[in-house]
Amino acid sequence: MLNFNFYNPTEVVFGKGQMKQLDGLVPKNSRILITYGGGSVKKFGTLDKVIDELKKSNREIFEFGGIEPNPQFETLMKAVKLVRENKIDFILAVGGGSVMDGTKFIGIASCKDEYIGKEEKLLTQGMISVDKTIPFGTVVTLPATGSEMNNGGVISNGENKLAIFSKKSFPIFSILDPELTYTLPKTQVANGVVDTFIHTVEQYVTYPVDAKFQDRTAEGILQTLVEIGKETIENPTNYDARANLVWAATMGLNGLIGSGVPQDWSVHMIGHEVTAIFGIDHAKTLAAILPATWKIRKTEKFEKLLQYAERVWDIREGTNEEKVDLAILKTEEFFQSLGITTKLSDYGIKEDNINRIIDSLKSHGMVKLSERGDQTLEITREIIIKAL
Ligand code: NZQ
Ligand code: ZN
Repeated sequence: MLNFNFYNPTEVVFGKGQMKQLDGLVPKNSRILITYGGGSVKKFGTLDKVIDELKKSNREIFEFGGIEPNPQFETLMKAVKLVRENKIDFILAVGGGSVMDGTKFIGIASCKDEYIGKEEKLLTQGMISVDKTIPFGTVVTLPATGSEMNNGGVISNGENKLAIFSKKSFPIFSILDPELTYTLPKTQVANGVVDTFIHTVEQYVTYPVDAKFQDRTAEGILQTLVEIGKETIENPTNYDARANLVWAATMGLNGLIGSGVPQDWSVHMIGHEVTAIFGIDHAKTLAAILPATWKIRKTEKFEKLLQYAERVWDIREGTNEEKVDLAILKTEEFFQSLGITTKLSDYGIKEDNINRIIDSLKSHGMVKLSERGDQTLEITREIIIKAL
């Protein structure tokens, strides 16, 4: 096992009706900004429930809606202005990954006085050193990104999609009530299953370091998703199936399974470029790029792919090569069974578009990807061709 620091201060408040704890979780006498997306929280009543709770104590409440999927820098800067002008001291993100990620950026940018007027530069720093940020909590309406229990945010700036992190950007608390997610369109639930699956394998299908707990936990998350994926899409109000998705999504990217193991993230890095250029949903890009990556990188990942085949899919017969090939096929079939294609060409992406993706990766320094840093742009090109 590799050395690691594990730090995660987020309080998880999980289950039916847990919104009733909100008043106790948010500081009293605060000036609070509620951030949300394009309106689903208004339409389905979640915002009203949040406001009713917050009004139980003395608080001044402000709202900022309109954070789009793949949150845009320009939009978030409007919220930063609002935070500064109104001396906001707590933010409550109500929504999915985009709202939570956007809120992390708003919190950092509002406190970084030395960046006033050049906040765009914060987006190119990866890990940002911060003395303070605006503390925030979340009410999660879409299980997928794990943003509710991690310190990462993915922010779009035109055709750039960039990840930021800071040690202070963990939510103070996250309310995870599976019932708040019942109103999701089927395709967003499918995205959540696939995104969680791929977060898990990016931290698992690398090379073995005898990290038994991390491996068994990752396998547990993957098997949970296979077990409940289709059910929670087809029967959204099956509470237990949805509760298992919500918790799997959180545990898939909160640092636990990634501690002490090599991590890949190449599928995400390529996927982010595809989303930024072509506007395809995050998880949908991953569903095409992951199987292609495994086909091209089979030798490098062979030992973990075999473990994945045997333990996640229970493939016990055939040669090792056959087991791995069947596991890759089963993975593709699983994504397809959720209604997500595994071919980029189904979104109209053609061979002519590949240079543009490669150029973007190059401009973002994504030239040595994967767990060993040996995935060159030439190999990435092969992967994208395979994913078409
Ligand atoms: O904007 P509204 O109207 O709220 O509608 C949203 C949005 O259109 C809708 N939605 C959310 N909850 C709903 C609902 N509709 C009905 N009922 C509900 N309960 O769903 C749509 C998608 O929302 P979004 O937040 O964009 O989706 P997701 O949670 O998948 O987040 C995707 C973003 O997260 C980033 C992605 O890159 C992308 O920008 N990621 C963040 C990560 C992190 N912070 O660790 C890791 C991930 O790998 C990922 O990169
Ligand atoms: Zn993801």
